[in-house]
Amino acid sequence: MLKVIRTKNYDDMSRKAANIIAAQVILKSDSVLGLATGSTPVGLYRELIRGYENGDLDFSHVRTVNLDEYQGLPREHDQSYYYFMNENLFKHININLDQTHLPDGTNMDAEGECGRYHELIESMGGIDLQLLGIGNNGHIGFNEPADAFADHTHCIRLTESTIKANARFFASEADVPRYAYTMGIGEIMTAKKILIVASGKAKAPIIREMLNGPVTPQVPASVLRFHKDVVLVADEEALSLV
Ligand code: GLP
Repeated sequence: MLKVIRTKNYDDMSRKAANIIAAQVILKSDSVLGLATGSTPVGLYRELIRGYENGDLDFSHVRTVNLDEYQGLPREHDQSYYYFMNENLFKHININLDQTHLPDGTNMDAEGECGRYHELIESMGGIDLQLLGIGNNGHIGFNEPADAFADHTHCIRLTESTIKANARFFASEADVPRYAYTMGIGEIMTAKKILIVASGKAKAPIIREMLNGPVTPQVPASVLRFHKDVVLVADEEALSLV
């Protein structure tokens, strides 16, 4: 079942979404959290940091597994998702860094790296709560629109629309990596709970597609409607066409 929580604006979305993650960590201190990057979750990570600072949240037993990573960017590159997670969350909370995981974008052996990551997810015993953003074309993680839903972690060629959308973070469009490693839809769908966040007018058309269009791999996020425990926390602008 997909539940929709409508929020006033970005900050309201961030607080409400962070509260859902906070509840998960309070109820199960050794939760496995599936984490996401992109601009949308930054505010909710800030709220989680605040929760840690004021003594509400203890991350010392939490384990994390991220959705995706660009292929070929060094970890210290400020657009690598490794760098992003450290800057926006990990270095501000009491998480054990050995218990945080991302695909290794520096491993150019795609098959080997994707196999390793799939095994890792399995070995963690499943994801308790998976956080997701959504791309303008409906991608989740880096599962781009395709003819079929990918099951496991795989290497994907980014679509032109994603390269254009993410160019804002790089010096130029030419600098955006063309390939990325991403968890598959199958792995995402095995998470016990899923929390997806969306903000702003630009996301309104794809949120409408996700909620009301056909379930199709051409709109990867639409598959979430087949999951039994999903919540979309989105602001009024993102929900303005629904
Ligand atoms: C990126 C990420 C996704 C993210 C999406 C939307 O390419 N791989 O995980 O959800 O794009 O990003 P934003 O939140 O900045 O709109």
